[in-house]
Amino acid sequence: MTTTALVTPAAELVARRVPGRSLEAPFYVGEEFFALDIEAVFARSWIFAATEAEVPEPGDYVTVTVGPYSVIVVRDDDEEVRAFHNVCRHRGARILNEPRGSVGTIVCGYHHWTYGVDGRLLHAASQEPGFDPTCFGLRTVQVRAVAGLVFLCLADRPPADFDDFAAQVTPYLAPHRLRHAKVARQVDLIEHANWKLTMENNRECYHCAGHPELQRCYFPLYNFAEGDVPPALRPTYERFLQADAAARAAFESLGLPYAAVEDLVERPTGFRVEREPLDLAGESFTEDGKAAVRRLLADFPTARLGHLGLHLQPNAWFHCAADHAVTFSVIPLAADRTLVRTTWLVHADAEEGVDYDLDALTNVWEVTNEQDAVFVARAQAGIGDPAYVPGPYSPTESQVEDFVRWYINRLSAYLQEGP
Ligand code: FES
Ligand code: FE
Repeated sequence: MTTTALVTPAAELVARRVPGRSLEAPFYVGEEFFALDIEAVFARSWIFAATEAEVPEPGDYVTVTVGPYSVIVVRDDDEEVRAFHNVCRHRGARILNEPRGSVGTIVCGYHHWTYGVDGRLLHAASQEPGFDPTCFGLRTVQVRAVAGLVFLCLADRPPADFDDFAAQVTPYLAPHRLRHAKVARQVDLIEHANWKLTMENNRECYHCAGHPELQRCYFPLYNFAEGDVPPALRPTYERFLQADAAARAAFESLGLPYAAVEDLVERPTGFRVEREPLDLAGESFTEDGKAAVRRLLADFPTARLGHLGLHLQPNAWFHCAADHAVTFSVIPLAADRTLVRTTWLVHADAEEGVDYDLDALTNVWEVTNEQDAVFVARAQAGIGDPAYVPGPYSPTESQVEDFVRWYINRLSAYLQEGP
């Protein structure tokens, strides 16, 4: 199915995208668009990289790989989160080759150039007199921590709207105290689909009948206008209206911001944030809706406060309940392979087996992710079939259209402005 890609330039496919319809096949199947997506989207946007809880102590690091790029995210001795290109300033070797770890200094394994966790070159053996180590520190990557979430941007001039994004979402996120969390579990799932299918799938609940475990506690209704609720979902909708009214009263009495703030399309750092009720006990993403962790992560007097949902272009979404938070990051691996990394955060002092049962905490999203992996693999297979033609989005898939419009905007900007 590369014929169209070979005969139709990317710019033409971008320009002729039909609003309200899924994208043409070459966007999902070809190496051309995979490389373009890395450069035009992932190398120029702020992307969600990790949580601060993954690097709690000075010297703790994670490596983040995006296409040909590898980035070291490390906490320095002043406890600030820093990011550097994982490329040695001597002859370019990849320096850190593990996904995570802890170091006193960052040592290249080839000729042992040694860098501080602040990126300065500390030692390079057998150099000419006059060799100036200050000229050979690790190249920095732009990094920002927002309420315990770590974002990076590979561009030298990152999108300037990030400060505004941070200012708008921080009041929503701060009560969840993610900076003081620990990682309870992290799961890497490889989906056999293009990264955009992973994101599109996340942006709609049209398929949520395929998530029976999630649907017990999660209201799949947010995109329905009242008159459009299908008869089968009417009882759930009535329950939602009651839970929503009670939740809003509770949010207001506690001074918690809850109203939806949405700017998903036009800005480079597109996002949507909203606090919403949950079903059943209304506390958490569990079988019965009750909190899975006895010691709450959030600074809340009660667990019955639903969840905070944050959607972020291009590669992340987040669910923060009172007792825990879950972060999801999406990293393209190939045109038809995508890493979905899910991280469950709990209070730093919560003890597994005492305050929470790990499987009970993670079960709903683990099975939901597995179900989504099947959906997106099927979408990838069908889109790769020569019989595929783009189809229409339903009104409940408005955030899919928002994601695709945002994506087309980013590609258009890149194709016009150049690298
Ligand atoms: Fe890193 Fe030589 S390439 S020390
Ligand atoms: Fe899903």
